[in-house]
Amino acid sequence: VGRVHLGLLGSGVVGGGLIDLIAKNQALIGERCGLELIVQRALVRDLNRPRPMHVEYTTDAAKIINASDIDIVVEVMGGTTQAYEYIKTALQNGKHVVTANKALLAQRGNELFHLATQQDRCIGYEASVCAGLPVIGTLRQGLVGNDIESLYGIVNGTNNYILTQMAEQGTTLEQAIQEAQKLGFCEADPSMDIDGIDAAQKLVVLSELAFGMHVQLQDITIEGIRHLEQADLKQAASLGYVIKHIAIARKVDGRLDLRVGPMLLHKRHPLASVRNEFNAILVKADAVGEMILQGKGAGAMPTASAVLSDIVDVALRDAPVHLRKLVKAEHGASAEGRYYLRFPIVDEPGVIGEITTKIGREGISIYDARAVLEDESTDGNVMILTHKCSLVALNRAVQAMQDQLRKAPVVLQILERK
Ligand code: HSE
Repeated sequence: VGRVHLGLLGSGVVGGGLIDLIAKNQALIGERCGLELIVQRALVRDLNRPRPMHVEYTTDAAKIINASDIDIVVEVMGGTTQAYEYIKTALQNGKHVVTANKALLAQRGNELFHLATQQDRCIGYEASVCAGLPVIGTLRQGLVGNDIESLYGIVNGTNNYILTQMAEQGTTLEQAIQEAQKLGFCEADPSMDIDGIDAAQKLVVLSELAFGMHVQLQDITIEGIRHLEQADLKQAASLGYVIKHIAIARKVDGRLDLRVGPMLLHKRHPLASVRNEFNAILVKADAVGEMILQGKGAGAMPTASAVLSDIVDVALRDAPVHLRKLVKAEHGASAEGRYYLRFPIVDEPGVIGEITTKIGREGISIYDARAVLEDESTDGNVMILTHKCSLVALNRAVQAMQDQLRKAPVVLQILERK
């Protein structure tokens, strides 16, 4: 097992979430990747706030960025001044860096990536865009063989939450902002969300990766959601549309069109059903066609999930893949659920009773049953829907009714929404 020593710059919503997630899934990560992740030290502003005990806290950044006992510096403090200096020093000191800081990357990403290359170090930044959605990994690796035509995204969880609440609950903009703040979705200054800056910063990071061009915030037409009123959301709905705050990067006649702002989407548009703090990115590319990534784009755990993926990715650069010791279930043993059954029968007296009795004998309960016979035919089908049962018991019941069936039955599991 390879030990990886982490130094956290910041221990707020995301840093705290990361400490919890590492503690929770440590054993899993060890089995899966052969890594032991040790949070060696975390930079905080106030040493007196209550925090998990197993981590050493410091108010001195040098104990992280200059420390010889730290391999990866994880920047989750935000801001563009100190965070920039710390990341720069960490790279110069030979540390890999993982950051969730889209504002910094949008402003000085090129300079930092250049420095990282010079130092032969990596910067992981999956968490900087859409938190839990692996959009950076998808663009960097998954779609590397594609020419990307366009990206359409709901990339700001706060705005999507606010617009959803306004449309569905009749909440005012101000009330919805307060709720989003309480839920921890907003930036430290929520006007970064509401005025579209956060979404534009994410679009800078995404479009540089997708289109291989140097993009700056000034290149993007930016509009926020401050001017929207209930009347707009109601009107949109009455016309069959929803209003979403959308970030667009698309090629038009060889140029890149970059925009962020509220737009009307037809209710059947693939992004129209993305609600609350969920984010989604719709990519159009020449080989895969259209694809969508959708998931939670804000909040402690979704962001920690992305930071953790970068940590493992950086740590595994040269390490072999480890196989996990998961035990496979026997075929069907764990397939518990509700089932749809169709039994092809010969219509003889008592046949339906025989079938239902044999199902009942296995302790399986039926919640709907019907028989369909073709006119003037003795052949028919019995359809049965069961309550939750095990497939093993169901298969035993089916085995027992071979004499009643004219053909093999059809057995389909009913997948519930949750
Ligand atoms: N304030 C951001 C949002 C947080 O609402 O999407 C995640 O980047």
